Amino acid sequence: TQGLQPMLPGLRVEVVAEIDSTNSELMRRARDGRNAPVLLVAVRQTAGRGRMGRPWQSAQDAGEPPSLTFSLGLPLAPRDWSGLSLAVGASVAESLDPTQAAGVKLKWPNDVWKEERKLAGILIETALLQPDASDRYLVIGIGINVGPREAVGLNTPPAWLKEWRPDITPGEVLREIVVPLVRDVLLFNDRGFVPFAARFAERDVLRGRDVRLSDGTEGHCEGVGWGGELLVRTAAGVQLISSAEVSVRPQ
Ligand code: BTN
Repeated sequence: TQGLQPMLPGLRVEVVAEIDSTNSELMRRARDGRNAPVLLVAVRQTAGRGRMGRPWQSAQDAGEPPSLTFSLGLPLAPRDWSGLSLAVGASVAESLDPTQAAGVKLKWPNDVWKEERKLAGILIETALLQPDASDRYLVIGIGINVGPREAVGLNTPPAWLKEWRPDITPGEVLREIVVPLVRDVLLFNDRGFVPFAARFAERDVLRGRDVRLSDGTEGHCEGVGWGGELLVRTAAGVQLISSAEVSVRPQ
């Protein structure tokens, strides 16, 4: 992370060797009224969290950690939150694989995928800064499998960055993604999902495929709408899905 701080004026960069979860730490701070913009990077998380209450675990070698785990905390409250995780995913995917040569894709609503396997996960949380006000603190947590070893504890075998960039380190990954990420989060805060719709569509793995939603609905995915909703064509017409788990139906 050396050299990162000057690239991020107004954002405090903190690196810790070990913490339960970078998201949990920034949420605790926000609830204590600490709402400064911060980038908190952990070399190791002991209780990393994923979406839906799932754990985010990563194997640890004696040497280099196999994953990059960090959270970006900002005192922001976008008018419409839907689509933020898609915008964050698009930003990260573009930084990791700008030309799409490596095939880094996005799986709605917030997984970064490579060849049908998860490369990175995003967990967005918000804390209310004052009980009766709308002031919010936004915590964007990102975990990227860098490798070489597989992260453990995930349902499906993950992808990792060293598969195609064997010499990359977690610190280098962070340097590549964080400046565009901050720029994109501010763009989302100003303009919502609309500027990201085409960027997401370019890497959308579900578009054009038959999908099954967690409530059992099956249909054909037609991509995402202007608000970041998943568009699923069923016998009853096109449905706009704003939250669900989705899987691709085997062909
Ligand atoms: C998911 O895929 O379900 C989301 C995973 C998010 C993991 C990151 S790692 C950094 C930050 N701290 C956490 O505890 N979780 C997020």
